[in-house]
Amino acid sequence: MSHIPTITLRDGLAVPAVGFGTAGIRGAAGVQAMTSALAQGYRLLDTAYNYENEGTVGLAVKRSGLPRADVLVSSKLPGRYHDHAIATIQESLYRAGLDYFDIYLIHWPNPQRDLYVEAWQALIDAQRFGLVRSIGVSNFLPEHLDRLEKETGVLPAINQIELHPLHSQAALRQYDAEHGIITEAWSPLGGQGGRTKPVQALPLIQQLAEKYQKSPAQVILRWEYQLGVLPLPLSRNTGRQAQNLAIFDFALTDAEVAAITALDDNEEQFVDPREHEEL
Ligand code: A2P
Repeated sequence: MSHIPTITLRDGLAVPAVGFGTAGIRGAAGVQAMTSALAQGYRLLDTAYNYENEGTVGLAVKRSGLPRADVLVSSKLPGRYHDHAIATIQESLYRAGLDYFDIYLIHWPNPQRDLYVEAWQALIDAQRFGLVRSIGVSNFLPEHLDRLEKETGVLPAINQIELHPLHSQAALRQYDAEHGIITEAWSPLGGQGGRTKPVQALPLIQQLAEKYQKSPAQVILRWEYQLGVLPLPLSRNTGRQAQNLAIFDFALTDAEVAAITALDDNEEQFVDPREHEEL
């Protein structure tokens, strides 16, 4: 089993440098896939109210036989409940059969509704009440993060964003780093919109996979790790789950990291959190 290094968040929580994404993994097959991920060594499961699988996650944690304290569970507040965060967290905990979440994020800023500051204040309270250990956001841009800091005095510990070689997010990563916010990557292999295969097939990724005798997915995850980003790869397959953790026995050169970052040609359109209305 791979040893996973840890990263310490601004509020003191130590988190594994790679977590497991769970969007779309549900039901009995989902429990099996997540139990398998835990057996492969994952210790951070990333879910959301809107993935409709918090129950599956909770059951997998229970079935794994691991002590609750050894697994970190992360969930997210949906847009429609920005003004009902505490009750939503409680409902999610009941669904998961857990007493607390280790990490809880606001899923999207939904700036048209303009309730994300109110939601953030409630997350600060939830942390104080002990419902969640660490709080953060997802898909937030600097303008949204600046407002949280200005209006509440508290910055998120995490910002989870879409990030992969075709969307390397240089500006947002820099903002997060300058503010002590850990950047997590959703779709770290390019998964969204069926892009996983094309991203893994990029010639530079293929060349580096050949050079290091690793898979293209491992090269991409290693690149994210070396950027200081925490990737949340998703796989239903036990072998690929294990493969995605086996990235700590090789290192890309600084020039290779920079070359992968430069694959982002800014031509493709990705989800814009200013426009995206997800409730
Ligand atoms: P599978 O479940 O069959 O392994 P992302 O994390 O960027 O959203 O990508 C998820 C997709 O990538 C899933 O369809 C998953 O398929 C696939 N995937 C995950 N790990 C690997 C890997 N190591 N090699 C190839 N494909 C992978």
